[in-house]
Amino acid sequence: MNSYLARHIWPDTAHIIHNRLAIGGCDVSALADRYATPLYLLDEATLRTTMRSYQDAFSAAYYVNHGIHYASKALLNTALTQIIVEEGLGLDVVSGTELLVARRAGMPMDRIHFHGNAKTRAELERALDWGVGAIVVDSLDELAQLAQLSAERAKPQNILLRIAPDIAARTHAHIATGSADSKFGLPLTALEHAVARIQDAPGLRLQGLHAHIGSQIFALDQFCATIDVLLDQAVHLRNCFGVIIDEISPGGGLGVPYVADMPPADISAYAAILGQALRDGCAARNFPPPRLTVEPGRSIIARAGVALYRIVATRSPAKPSLPGHLHIDGGMADNIRPALYGARYTALIANRANAPADAVWIIAGRYCETGDILIRDVALPQAAPGDIVAIPVVGAYTLSMSSNYNLTPRPALILVRDGNAQIIQRRESEDEVLARDQQL
Ligand SMILES: Cc1ncc(COP(=O)(O)O)c(C=O)c1O
Repeated sequence: MNSYLARHIWPDTAHIIHNRLAIGGCDVSALADRYATPLYLLDEATLRTTMRSYQDAFSAAYYVNHGIHYASKALLNTALTQIIVEEGLGLDVVSGTELLVARRAGMPMDRIHFHGNAKTRAELERALDWGVGAIVVDSLDELAQLAQLSAERAKPQNILLRIAPDIAARTHAHIATGSADSKFGLPLTALEHAVARIQDAPGLRLQGLHAHIGSQIFALDQFCATIDVLLDQAVHLRNCFGVIIDEISPGGGLGVPYVADMPPADISAYAAILGQALRDGCAARNFPPPRLTVEPGRSIIARAGVALYRIVATRSPAKPSLPGHLHIDGGMADNIRPALYGARYTALIANRANAPADAVWIIAGRYCETGDILIRDVALPQAAPGDIVAIPVVGAYTLSMSSNYNLTPRPALILVRDGNAQIIQRRESEDEVLARDQQL
């Protein structure tokens, strides 16, 4: 163990052995040599432990009935979904292809919630054909289409109505989704109309209400406020229409630390506060306790992921007061978060992990955008071309948002565990990048 490794931002298995970073029992610099860079690692032990923490915390906090649905937009592939199935979690998907991956991985369809503010007709048909647990309806137009598509089916389709609860989450504007004018969810004023429409639709059954106020949220009281809005609406619908809402979902959104000076993600506190808000809220309203479903993405996968890059070039400071540059072989095409919303990260030189951090560097990506800077002002040792930069907390919203900018192939993803490394998503080839390209 080493003082450079802040436990709450590195995978549980991260260690420094003989001056080199190891994760999942594997020397990560050796993995970089073997599989090339950029390379993403996923630590299976951290992943499974975090999923179990979620299950245990919600079992303790809300014993009545709960579901943990991993939000697959954070990162999805077949092997990861197989782990999710084994750990007993469900899935939140947002596209027909995410649904296909879930099916390939053997995820029981009744454990899936299908989200999205602009699902296509083909996607809705697939969800109906495959019998997903619930379709989370986002608009009156979607509801009308679903009413028509489900009308002739033998079994009614369960749906949740997603509402915009008019809660401005304290997070970056690009990842706040709960305000009244958000592009997601029905305005509260449309809810009665939606329920009346469902009551006229023989193929649909209203199972519950959903809201998701945003991502990377640390103020837990905002989740309680969301539960309160959902319960108020549930009571209102009972009084107006006689319908009983038997599932409430306040979405996902628990924040995680990206750098050492941020507090750890407290899953137990999150579960306890949500459980209490729901139990107390139901008691105060004389409402039967519904199933509680949460959809964590980032707080399940982020810390399990570490990115490895090779330094290609260094540049000395332009002035003595400025940091120097480390130019690496990846950047915004595999991790758009710093460019998109100013996300912060830290790093380590993996092959000299104990060397004194006596220089300040800017870690610059390889892509042709001035904004392609992964980290500003990080204290690291003197570094040189060939060294390996390891960046922690990259499991969420990195590879799932990756692109082929500058026509670069996307990196491989490796699962590490007990000294073994397994490719679970291989590196894209140049031929694959060019596969859609046509001559005149
Ligand atoms: C509807 C919905 N549920 C869950 C999530 C997951 O959020 P997070 O990864 O912050 O837990 C998102 C992502 O923003 C979302 O849009």
